[in-house]
Amino acid sequence: MVLCRICGGPVDEFFDFGRQPVSDSFVTPETAGSEFYFRLAAGVCTDCTMVQLIEEVPREKMFHEDYPYRSAGSAVMREHFEKYAHRLLDGELAVDDPFVVEIGSNDGTMLKTIGRAGVRHLGVDPSAQVAEFAKAAGVRVRTDFFQDSSARDIAAADGPADVIFSANTVSHIAYIDSVFRGVDALLGPDGVFVIEDRYLGSIIEQNAFDQIYDEHFYLFSVGSVQAMARRFGLELADVEPLSVHGGSMRYTIARPGRRTVSAAVTEHIDREREAGLGRPETYHRFAQHVKESCRDLVRLLTDLREQGHSVVGYGATAKSATVLNYCGIGPDLVPFICDSTPAKQGRLAPGTHIPIRPSEQFSQPYPDYALLFAWNHAEEILAKEREFRAAGGKWIRYVPDVHVV
Ligand code: SAM
Ligand code: TMP
Ligand code: ZN
Repeated sequence: MVLCRICGGPVDEFFDFGRQPVSDSFVTPETAGSEFYFRLAAGVCTDCTMVQLIEEVPREKMFHEDYPYRSAGSAVMREHFEKYAHRLLDGELAVDDPFVVEIGSNDGTMLKTIGRAGVRHLGVDPSAQVAEFAKAAGVRVRTDFFQDSSARDIAAADGPADVIFSANTVSHIAYIDSVFRGVDALLGPDGVFVIEDRYLGSIIEQNAFDQIYDEHFYLFSVGSVQAMARRFGLELADVEPLSVHGGSMRYTIARPGRRTVSAAVTEHIDREREAGLGRPETYHRFAQHVKESCRDLVRLLTDLREQGHSVVGYGATAKSATVLNYCGIGPDLVPFICDSTPAKQGRLAPGTHIPIRPSEQFSQPYPDYALLFAWNHAEEILAKEREFRAAGGKWIRYVPDVHVV
C-alpha cells in the first residue's frame, strides 16, 4: 500500500500509464535512448483527497541545466503574469520596503515586472539555462531548489517575505513538506503564500489525462490544498479560478487567523464534494475515459494514415509525452511536431523520438491535419494559425474526447 506524501493516509491507485520517460527530456539524435524511465501511475488519498503520483522521479532528472520549458513561450501567459505582478505591486506589495520571492521563477516572466518597479525580489529556480534568461531581464535569481534549507538562507540574508509566489511549480515538488517548512521560515507574519496550478476539477471534468506526467506530482483541488495548508500550520484564505492552462486555480495561503477566509473557499469545497473529487469511484470512471480517448486517437491516426492524409503534431508539450508513449504513437503516425521553443527544436520527443521542428515549418506546406498537443493554448494557437483552417486544414483534439474541428 502506497502512503500519501502529505498525510500518510492510504492512496488508491486509479491509473497506470506504464513505463514512461521524463517528459521534458528532449534528446538529440546522439543521446536518444538515454531518457530516464519510471512507472507513471496516479492515485488519490482516501484521507486528505490529494491526487498524487505513485512513483517519484529524482528531481535532478527533471530540473537541470538543459530544462527546456519557458514561460515566455505563450503570449497569454506573459500577459497573465504581467497583470498579476501589477496586482501584487498595487496590493500585497504596497508596504514599506516590500520583498517577494518566486518559487520556480523560470525565465523571469513574472518577476521582471516586479524588478522594473524597483521592488526587492528573488527568484528561486534550479534550472540554470532558463534562469539565465531571467537574469538577462534584470531579475535576481538563486539557481537552487526551494526547500527548507534554501528558504532559511534567504530569510537570513533578505529578511521575511511579504509574498511568496509560485505558479505551476509547487505541484512539481514531491517533498512538499520541506517547501512548507521553508515557507514557514521565510514568510512574514502578515505575508501570503500564493500558489497557481492546474485545477484538478477541470482535469476531471475535461478528461485531461495528459496533465498526468512526471513533473505534475500532485494535482491540486481546493479541498486537498486546504487540508495540506492546515497540516503544515497555515490557512487557505482565498481561491480564484483562472482560465489559463485549460483551467487553473490561484490559492492564497496565510498564517492562521491573519486573513478573513473568503466564502469562495467553502463554495468550491462544496462544489468539489458534489463533483465527487474525494471519491475513488470518480477516478475509476475517469480511468475508463482515458482508455477510450487513447483507443479513439490511435484509431483516428491509423485511419488517416491509411487514407493517405498527412498529420503533424502542434506543441511539443511535456503533456504530449504521456499521450504519445502511452498510446504508442511514433513518427509513423506523427512524422514531426512543430514547437516555438528554441531549446526543443532539432531535438527528438522523449521515448517516441518524433522530431521537433520550428513552428515556421508548419505552413511549408500545411499538413491535412494537425494534432493539437498544446490544447491548453488553443485560443492563442488557433488565432495565430488562422490560415491553416482557411487553407482547408483540420485540427485534431483529444480533450475532452477525440474530435476533429
Ligand atoms: N512559474 C513558471 C510558469 O508558471 O510558467 C514556470 C513553471 S515550470 C513548469 C516549473 C519550474 O519550476 C521550472 O523552471 C523548474 O526548474 C522549477 N522548479 C522545480 N523544482 C523546484 C524547486 N524545488 N524550487 C524552485 N523551482 C523549482
Ligand atoms: P505548456 O503546455 O507546458 O505550456 O507547453 C506549451 C508548449 O507549446 C511549449 O513547448 C511551447 C509550445 N507552443 C507553441 O509551439 N506555439 C504557441 O503558440 C504556444 C502558445 C506554445
Ligand atoms: Zn493524504
